[in-house]
Amino acid sequence: MAVSYRELGLVNTREMFKKAMAGKYAVPAYNFNNMEQLQAIIAACVETRSPVILQVSSGARKYADATLLRYMAKGAVEYAKKLGVEIPITLHLDHGDTLELCKDCIDNGFSSVMIDGSHHPYEKNVELTRQVVEYAHKFDVTVEGELGQLAGIEDEVSAEHSTYTRPDEVIDFVKKTGVDSLAISIGTSHGATKFKPEQCTLSPDGVLIPPPLRFDILEEVEKQLPGFPIVLHGSSSVPVEQVKIINQYGGKMKDAVGIPEEQLRKAASSAVCKINIDSDGRLAMTAAIRKVFAEKPSEFDPRKYLGPARDALKELYKHKNINVLGSANRV
Ligand code: G3H
Ligand code: 13P
Ligand code: ZN
Repeated sequence: MAVSYRELGLVNTREMFKKAMAGKYAVPAYNFNNMEQLQAIIAACVETRSPVILQVSSGARKYADATLLRYMAKGAVEYAKKLGVEIPITLHLDHGDTLELCKDCIDNGFSSVMIDGSHHPYEKNVELTRQVVEYAHKFDVTVEGELGQLAGIEDEVSAEHSTYTRPDEVIDFVKKTGVDSLAISIGTSHGATKFKPEQCTLSPDGVLIPPPLRFDILEEVEKQLPGFPIVLHGSSSVPVEQVKIINQYGGKMKDAVGIPEEQLRKAASSAVCKINIDSDGRLAMTAAIRKVFAEKPSEFDPRKYLGPARDALKELYKHKNINVLGSANRV
């Protein structure tokens, strides 16, 4: 039997994005796969009074189980209330690749889905996205489409070379598909190694500085689609301190480099209404767990290393909401 997101206490992204556009901030879209990540996201967003988009990839669905995820999202709504603040919470499918997957999520309590047809030829992307919108809108579920391809490789999301979004296509795409928001490619990419060292310059203290995002493309898209919600994927900043801790305690992360926070701050004050962050959370968890393993090798209670990882995640998300996305104190 189908389950509506309303029964779970969730909201779609329409109102969220309207407020984000007017207030010149971006709503955080944080990926989760397990309880500790979900607890950290909700606690951080309640404490900072921020709306939040809980993102689930198809990989996360396979890992955590679709039924469990649905109840976790319902639990997240109740948990936020218990912590004392009712924040708007969206459950969103990240990088949906087929109509069937999107339908299944919509039938199982998701309030928003992304159909990522960006790797298809333009007309196929339009047709696939249009079909998802047609189904989703019957249930007032919002849909994110994508034009242009991000570089980078992750488990289930891969595009070796980026293709920037063509601003001359966006009006036609939005009109023909009816999407509620549009992910664009302006130089961000997935994962912890977003740029090759040869693309970067070296700061005096030895930090790799990546090339700037293509704000000219973002401005052109905004001109074509005034007031339309834009989404940025691949927006982790890959903090050098976290990479250092990981490497100090036995990890091997070479040449990791992300998107500088000031560029995300600039994007958040434009038509960018949703900023996707997954890798920074993975780094924070891994750093905290590696530290416990190295410093307390006899420890074998999972709560003793997942607990510190959860604390580190919460701090990271609070920092993002307050200092990067500007979503704090908007509820
Ligand atoms: O954009 C991709 C997200 O980081 C999800 O990654 O497919 O490994 O769950 P995943
Ligand atoms: P990062 O790998 O930069 O965290 O991007 C996550 C993302 O775009 C999820 O869709
Ligand atoms: Zn993404």
